[in-house]
Amino acid sequence: MKLLVTRRLPSSVISKLKAAADVDLYTGETAISADELRARIADVDGLVCLLTDAIDRSVIDAAPKLKAIANVAVGYNNIDVPYARSKGIVVTNTPDVLTEAVADFTWAMILAITRRISEGERVVRSGQWKGWALDFMLGSDLRNKQLGLVGVGRIARAVAARAPAFGMRVAYTTRRPVDAGFAEPGLREAEAMSLDKLLNTSDVVSLHVPLTADTRHLIDKKAITRMKRSAYLVNTARGPVVDEDALAWAMQQRLLAGAALDVYENEPAIHPDLLKLDNVLLLPHLGSATTETRTAMADLAADNVLAVLNGRTPITPVP
Ligand code: DGY
Repeated sequence: MKLLVTRRLPSSVISKLKAAADVDLYTGETAISADELRARIADVDGLVCLLTDAIDRSVIDAAPKLKAIANVAVGYNNIDVPYARSKGIVVTNTPDVLTEAVADFTWAMILAITRRISEGERVVRSGQWKGWALDFMLGSDLRNKQLGLVGVGRIARAVAARAPAFGMRVAYTTRRPVDAGFAEPGLREAEAMSLDKLLNTSDVVSLHVPLTADTRHLIDKKAITRMKRSAYLVNTARGPVVDEDALAWAMQQRLLAGAALDVYENEPAIHPDLLKLDNVLLLPHLGSATTETRTAMADLAADNVLAVLNGRTPITPVP
């Protein structure tokens, strides 16, 4: 059986794949081009791909033997899942293994934007710091404030679990009512609310929804103007959930205190107006970027693709 792997993975994972299959490994520094992907996928049975690869109809049509697509990511908006399924192809993702790393990183971003960490470092490095002053570079406390989670999946729940350590109460939106509520710390006392109410009442709004037709530009001009002027927006989910034009406009008008972004509408391009704003923290999609977590993600994707190709049930098929 033949596999195409679209980017270098940890060597332990490549060895595992090579022990079981004939592996074509793309070793370019950036994402494989669509043309090269279509050419190299022609005779493969399984694909291990990344969120930077668009696995659309044209790619799927170019792969008549394909049986499994294993995405090394929990999000799978880069794959045309209904079309793959219609061709009998199993699609898998990598949930759970990245939950804690992304939750930690979300808090790193919350702390960084509310306490102006990145801005402060820029001042020091540029030699502009004139010394301690009582009113210099003041941020905002988190204690006794409301953390509003848009979405209440695994990562949002892990973010909520850390909230008591910072003295924050939690509110969340959910598409489906949660009958019994949640037992986890941070969520036990949390309040489910409409998106409007959550935007209206939260001091930090953190996005944790997958990118779908319904969530594209969920945070648009109208949504942003519902938020408090003293609030912060944090996005570790997917860039297109936020309308970047609207956000840049709102930040220029000082309609929010700050925004922290790890994901963007057109990665790796960054909206030019956001680049100019000091109260916007910009990070290069690092949410799950620890050695342990990225290795676990790649390993799970490898196990998934091998399971399907060997006639077993995959560990984490996409829902
Ligand atoms: C994912 O897995 O979807 C993340 O965005 C990767 O960091």
